[in-house]
Amino acid sequence: MSQTGSTAVSAQADELRRAMVRELREQEAIRTEVVAAAFASVPRHLFAPGEPLETAYAPHGTVVAKRDADGLVLSVMSAAHLQAVMLEQASVEPGMCVLEVGSGGYNAALLQEVVGPEGRVTTVDIDPDIITRARTCLDTAGYERVRTLTADAEFGVPQLAAFDRIVVTAAAWDIPSSWISQLTLDGRLVVPLRMRGLTRSVAFDRDGDGLVSRDYRLARFVPMQGRGAFTERKVLLREGVAIQTDDPAVRLDKQALDEALSGPALEVWPGAVWDFPDELELFAALNLPRVASIHASQRIIDEDVLGPAALLGVTILVTEDSFAYRAKRASGSTGEYESGVIAHGPQAESLAKQYAEVLLRWSDAYRRRGAATFRYRPDAAGLGPLPTDAVAKRHGTVTVTWS
Ligand SMILES: C[S@@+](CC[C@H](N)C(=O)[O-])C[C@H]1O[C@@H](n2cnc3c(N)ncnc32)[C@H](O)[C@@H]1O
Repeated sequence: MSQTGSTAVSAQADELRRAMVRELREQEAIRTEVVAAAFASVPRHLFAPGEPLETAYAPHGTVVAKRDADGLVLSVMSAAHLQAVMLEQASVEPGMCVLEVGSGGYNAALLQEVVGPEGRVTTVDIDPDIITRARTCLDTAGYERVRTLTADAEFGVPQLAAFDRIVVTAAAWDIPSSWISQLTLDGRLVVPLRMRGLTRSVAFDRDGDGLVSRDYRLARFVPMQGRGAFTERKVLLREGVAIQTDDPAVRLDKQALDEALSGPALEVWPGAVWDFPDELELFAALNLPRVASIHASQRIIDEDVLGPAALLGVTILVTEDSFAYRAKRASGSTGEYESGVIAHGPQAESLAKQYAEVLLRWSDAYRRRGAATFRYRPDAAGLGPLPTDAVAKRHGTVTVTWS
């Protein structure tokens, strides 16, 4: 590229970067000056080589870095919006020692900007191709100080611990003990944690041997690979309808559930307010006893076989032959919506009743952002009988307090 050409690209990138920062501030993804300054400094387009500048700087856009042989995405440069939210959650300070799990280069460069010359950033990825790519991008953009490592992050990076912050950028089904023990005693772990089929980026502070959450946000990430990988069970009821669960105790009879779907639908509208859908969904998933999620194609929705909530996946209360899911409808002429339940199968009535009670409980007592506080105990022994909303993991247990 000619000198004039590269100057023009650089000027356009600067302009797009300023616009991105403005938008991220307006959307309250960026909340602090230190995070704004990092986003304003790092040339994001240098971590998306070959992509149009507009793509690199789209606040909600992702850039695929690698797919597997079947086309499944293994690695992406995450959306700037999500990176800003997580960087704010991490509350990183100058001079800190930070570990990033899952590399791409860009997020590590943002972290390096925040920790400054006295701080240290290490980024680890299980995939050597991703590390090679991240290393090249970091060097091109002038972030030679960021350390890159190929390893399965299940075991952390013991040789460089302890870390003031660990920021995980792949969806984790569990929290390996290394991510707790390799934190400083007042350290923070930010992790997109899968709980009953939902992913939330949780900012956990270390609390002795365990963790306690300070904040959680909606998040979407590629799944963790390696020792921490977890495959959720998926049953295809018919073309365009699938049920998925991570709970081994949930029994799914494909034929019986498909028959239930073909049968009549029972609707219950208990007078619960529909609001903050991601909070409502979290409360339902954690407070119902046997959950899975149902996913439907646009055709299935258009044919009125399932309600629109199933397009992105919605939590169901399920037995072998029946299931219930939540729906919404306009409530009167106020512009508000109410939550209801649609149930199918021989046990429709009892499932709808249970689901409706949970919707009412949320609507009456917890209808707001951030009502949950999560605790992670590496060993659940001594906790006594676990409540319905406790989530058993391989290495420990998540418990939830609602307030
Ligand atoms: C969303 S990408 C990371 C994005 C990156 N942080 C950025 O700056 O845009 C997720 C990455 O996690 C990596 N990954 C998945 N499982 C891992 C594991 N067990 N240990 C380390 N890295 C892992 C994947 O190879 C993938 O590159």
